[in-house]
Amino acid sequence: MTQMPSQLAQFLYLIAASCFILSLKGLSSPKTARLGNILGASGMAIALVVSLLSSRSYECAIIAIALGGVAGLLVAKRIKMTALPQLVAAFHSLVGIAAVLISWVTLRSPQLLNASSVQMRVEIGIEALIGAITFTGSILAFCKLQGLGKKLFIPNPNIVNATLSVICVLVLLVFSLSGVDFLFWILVPLSLALGVCLVLPIGGSDMPVVVSLLNSYSGWATAATGFTLGNYLLIITGALVGSSGAILSYIMCKNMNRSIFKVVFGQTAGQAGTLQGLSSIKNEKSAKIGTPEDAAFMLANASSVIIVPGYGMAVAQAQMSVFEIAELLRAREVKVRYAIHPVAGRMPGHMNVLLAEAKVPYEDVFELDDINGDFSLTDVTLVVGANDITNPAAYNDPQSPIFGMPILRVENSHTVLFVKRSLGTGYAGVDNELFYRENTMMVIGDARKVCEDIAKELK
Ligand code: TAP
Repeated sequence: MTQMPSQLAQFLYLIAASCFILSLKGLSSPKTARLGNILGASGMAIALVVSLLSSRSYECAIIAIALGGVAGLLVAKRIKMTALPQLVAAFHSLVGIAAVLISWVTLRSPQLLNASSVQMRVEIGIEALIGAITFTGSILAFCKLQGLGKKLFIPNPNIVNATLSVICVLVLLVFSLSGVDFLFWILVPLSLALGVCLVLPIGGSDMPVVVSLLNSYSGWATAATGFTLGNYLLIITGALVGSSGAILSYIMCKNMNRSIFKVVFGQTAGQAGTLQGLSSIKNEKSAKIGTPEDAAFMLANASSVIIVPGYGMAVAQAQMSVFEIAELLRAREVKVRYAIHPVAGRMPGHMNVLLAEAKVPYEDVFELDDINGDFSLTDVTLVVGANDITNPAAYNDPQSPIFGMPILRVENSHTVLFVKRSLGTGYAGVDNELFYRENTMMVIGDARKVCEDIAKELK
């Protein structure tokens, strides 16, 4: 087969890049997200075909695409939606290691890409640095999200991270200017260690931001690879992923009242110091436990209801039953709205996706800032499998790992119904004193079963 002419390839790359940009635009709203996905996939299909037709050797590429495609298909079919953050972290580690390997190959083949020029060595060094940080950082993030391994700590993480970062930049500079290839093999292990040190101190509710940051790093690693290979599509795609990941990290930090600088440099909020204090609350007070029938009675007699979905709704796949409850209440002329916290669930937009799947109208779904003031005017708030995002420790306990994170002020409504399987903690491992308040009723059980029973009772 003859190679595709370079000009035609560049033109098609431009079309693929346009698809990626339009895809991001589409993905910014639930209404256009499906179209955004289709555009992104089309852009990727064009990019793959053009890369294949522009390459000198097809065999290896076809084998790699076949292997990668089958592995991707199997993983995508098997993975549970609640484990997507881990999967994303695992995929980022592949981008990271690919960048390191490409930088190594480029360094070994100077005749291919003029790897001896200072500019090329800077590109190779940056690619290896970001790729290695992304690789180990993502593997560690995967282990943390999957609950694998022991909890490890590094003493004075700020000092360690700042020192290691400065050393890496210095080695990168000397590697680029001196032309000594051996320094590459000092830069890579140092960067691998930096990836570990940056992610190690972070935990609890800051993990979503870390995954999004690693997403951004993987984009910059791709862009750096594009520079070394002289591939404009990789540069554009990498820059899109890098900047959108950075913007998302910033938005998440803002939503959780965290400093992005502190998360980037591996500083996390206080560790779970509240457990003991709240355990005493548990001992002093007892929670009011109700049945699905009690919950249905309260909901049916309310004039306004807000539904707050959380991770437990995703685990139980209770979104259809939740929607059914909402529709049954609407039929009784109850005003029903949904409130979504920006980090509810385990990935950005997790709850929006589930509610969209259940065909909840977009106009009934409200963001934290838009609905928080309305809880005090609401008769019943139905919290389905959510915990941390409602926990007042976020504003009244400075020692809590979630301190400073804005929460949905469900406790301001007249009555709060919590649907969950126990009085246990959520992702951040912090007890929730709301369970023991006067205006709270706990409905214990699997969210799907409880919601189905409530719906049955309402019928
Ligand atoms: P969580 O605080 O994790 O609470 C979820 C609750 O659901 C748990 O307390 C659990 O209690 C309950 N649950 C689990 N399975 C259930 C089931 N089958 N039926 C009924 N209840 C069930 O969730 P949240 O309120 O959505 O807050 C999200 C947390 O995850 C935040 O801390 C956030 O920072 C973190 N996080 C978010 C993301 C993103 S980007 N969204 C990513 C990673 C981490 P029981 O065991 O008692 O049932």
